[in-house]
Amino acid sequence: MQNEGAIAMTQHHHGKTYRGSAPENYERYFVPAIGAPAARGLVAIAALRPGERALDVACGTGVVARLASEAVGPAGTVAGLDVNPGMLAVARSTAPPGQAIEWHEASAEAIPLPDASFDVVLCQMGLQFVPDKHAALSEMRRVLAPGGRLILNVPGPTPQLFTVMAEALARHIGADTAGFVNQVFSLHDTAEIHDLIGGAGFQDVSVRAETQSLRLPPPEEFLWQYVHSTPLAGAVAQVDDERRDSLERDVAAQWQALVEDRTLVLQVRMVVATARN
Ligand SMILES: C[S@@+](CC[C@H](N)C(=O)[O-])C[C@H]1O[C@@H](n2cnc3c(N)ncnc32)[C@H](O)[C@@H]1O
Repeated sequence: MQNEGAIAMTQHHHGKTYRGSAPENYERYFVPAIGAPAARGLVAIAALRPGERALDVACGTGVVARLASEAVGPAGTVAGLDVNPGMLAVARSTAPPGQAIEWHEASAEAIPLPDASFDVVLCQMGLQFVPDKHAALSEMRRVLAPGGRLILNVPGPTPQLFTVMAEALARHIGADTAGFVNQVFSLHDTAEIHDLIGGAGFQDVSVRAETQSLRLPPPEEFLWQYVHSTPLAGAVAQVDDERRDSLERDVAAQWQALVEDRTLVLQVRMVVATARN
C-alpha cells in the first residue's frame, strides 16, 4: 500500500465513475463498509478513558484514531502513524477540526516517538503488511508506558469472497495482482500472533478469533470500489476495457452465491489480540 497517494485516475464501470486517489477511495468506500465496523469493535475492547494517550499504528486514513479521539476526549491525546503519505493526507483532511490528532509519517518498525509516551497502542489491519513484525511490536512496546495496553486486529484466512476476487484478478489482470489480496489476509494464525507479541516482551497476551458478517454493496459496485481503494487500481488501469469487463463478469457471477437481498455478504474472521507492557 505504499506510494499510491499520487495515483489519481478516472474510470467508468457499470455507469459509475470512480475518480480520485486510492487513499481517497479507501476513505470513501472501504472505511464505511469494513474499516469502521471493525474499528468500533477494536476501540470498544480498548476501553479508553478520558485523558488517556493513544497511538494508532498503520492508521491509514485514521478511522481508529478518530474514534479513539472521541473516547479520550479533549484531556487526552491521539497520534496516528503510517508509512503512506497519501493515506496520511486523507487522514489530516478527514479528522474533524475539534480533534487535535498528530499524524506521523514513519514505519511501525521505527516509531519516531519517545519511550513510554502512550497508555494505549492500537493497530487495525496493519501488522500483516509490516516486513519486520518483531521490530514493529518491540517499537509499540517501547512507546507504551509501564502497564500500557496493546490492542490490534488482523483479518484472515482469506474469505471466500476475496479468494474469488484474487483468482479472477490473476486470470484477467495479471498473476502478481493476486499477491496484494493474499497479503491482506496473510497473518491470522493465533499461536503465531501470540508468539510474536510475547516475543516482543508483552505480558498478559490474549488472542481471540471471531467471524463477522458484513453487508457490502452489490457485487459490481463492491468490486470496483475495492479495486479503486487499493494498490490494485494501478494494475487494473493498465489493461483494456475488454479485460476489465471480463474480470467483472467472472467475479460477479461467482459472487452471486454470496448475495442476500441485493447486497454482498462478507464473512470474515478477525483475530483480535490484547496485551500489556
Ligand atoms: C488496510 S490499511 C488499514 C488502515 C487503518 N488502520 C484502517 O483500519 O482503516 C493498512 C495500512 O497499513 C499501512 N502500512 C503498511 N506498512 C506499514 C508500515 N511498515 N508501517 C506503518 N504502516 C504501514 C498502509 O500504508 C495502510 O495505510
